Amino acid sequence: MTVNLDQLRRCHVAVDLGAARTRVFVKGAGLVVDEPSVAAVNTRTGALIAVGQFAERMTGRTPPYIRVVRPVSGGTVVDIDMAQRMLRGLIGEKLRRNLRRKPRLRAAACTPHEADPLAQRAAVETLVGLGARRVELVDTLIAAAVGCRLPVELPEATMIMVCGAATTQVAVLSLGSIVTAERIPVGGEAIDHAIVQHLRHHHELVLPSQSVRPLQLALSGNGLTPYGPQTTEIHGRDVATGLARSVYVDTAAVRDAIHTPLTAVLDGIGKVLRDCPPDLVADLADRGIMMVGGSALLPGLDQMLRDATGMPVTIAERPDVSAILGLGAMLEGQVQPLVLNPLAG
Ligand SMILES: Nc1ncnc2c1ncn2[C@@H]1O[C@H](COP(=O)(O)OP(=O)(O)OP(=O)(O)O)[C@@H](O)[C@H]1O
Ligand SMILES: [Mg+2]
Repeated sequence: MTVNLDQLRRCHVAVDLGAARTRVFVKGAGLVVDEPSVAAVNTRTGALIAVGQFAERMTGRTPPYIRVVRPVSGGTVVDIDMAQRMLRGLIGEKLRRNLRRKPRLRAAACTPHEADPLAQRAAVETLVGLGARRVELVDTLIAAAVGCRLPVELPEATMIMVCGAATTQVAVLSLGSIVTAERIPVGGEAIDHAIVQHLRHHHELVLPSQSVRPLQLALSGNGLTPYGPQTTEIHGRDVATGLARSVYVDTAAVRDAIHTPLTAVLDGIGKVLRDCPPDLVADLADRGIMMVGGSALLPGLDQMLRDATGMPVTIAERPDVSAILGLGAMLEGQVQPLVLNPLAG
């Protein structure tokens, strides 16, 4: 996928439809939406009840006639109609009216690396349904690299790792394009799932989803205190009795539990490095890896990567919004024309 900066500069709005969060950037206004990709629907009437964080808060707390849906799965729009309704709800009436006033609305969207034609078409159709006459697609890896101001235009290697909710994408970039890349179907959701499964199997505890985060924080230590292994108190529900119960969880054991999904990510990084020309690998030894995406904030993940690869690892300044800000910078014309497409003339 090549990036056509001229066409991108003519776009009015940029959208990043992620498995976990939806972000919208409007030219001249900046990042206007950063909300969970969730919608709540009344199954009796078909009416949309809530979108974004309000809908997410309803998860697991709804009466039978309300269904909470996620129209984006694995980084791909799986329910185009629902994705359009969710986006309309998130953008809001005022902004929608503003966009409708544009005679030929142009939109840009980032798609996962090597998204298949069906996935690309789903992204395009979602935005066409919102009134876009033309939709430009940009590889998430390039958008994210621009968003965290990596010097992608130089004839030197830069390595980026986009840690999303459903996928992790790794690439080596040079001269404005992708040299080698891998998309691994493991992200923050798989890591959360591994933690939940560990507690269910080893402590017979059902963990509410909002309790995963404190446990992740405990993982950032080295797992040892002066008095022995580090433990954290976690509240949940007993699998058998259904009653509330709290347990002390050994954080080292949890760290082992999340190792399985992380192995797949490390394998992917290894493959990208193996496929990369030796000159570029030499550049990477001092440049290291730039981490972006919401899951880059997973405590201890950067250290784990440092230990596994022996390379410097940096977390971007605003890792969760790097991709949409990169797309936004291209819309605003802040990226030099010769940078991303040197042959475009
Ligand atoms: N502070 C944090 N600590 C740990 N994990 C976090 C933190 N903040 C967000 N996450 C995780 O990051 C993920 C969301 O990341 P992001 O917003 O990049 O996803 P996305 O773009 O919607 O997904 P994808 O790109 O895979 O479609 C979620 O799995 C969430 O649990
Ligand atoms: Mg994403």
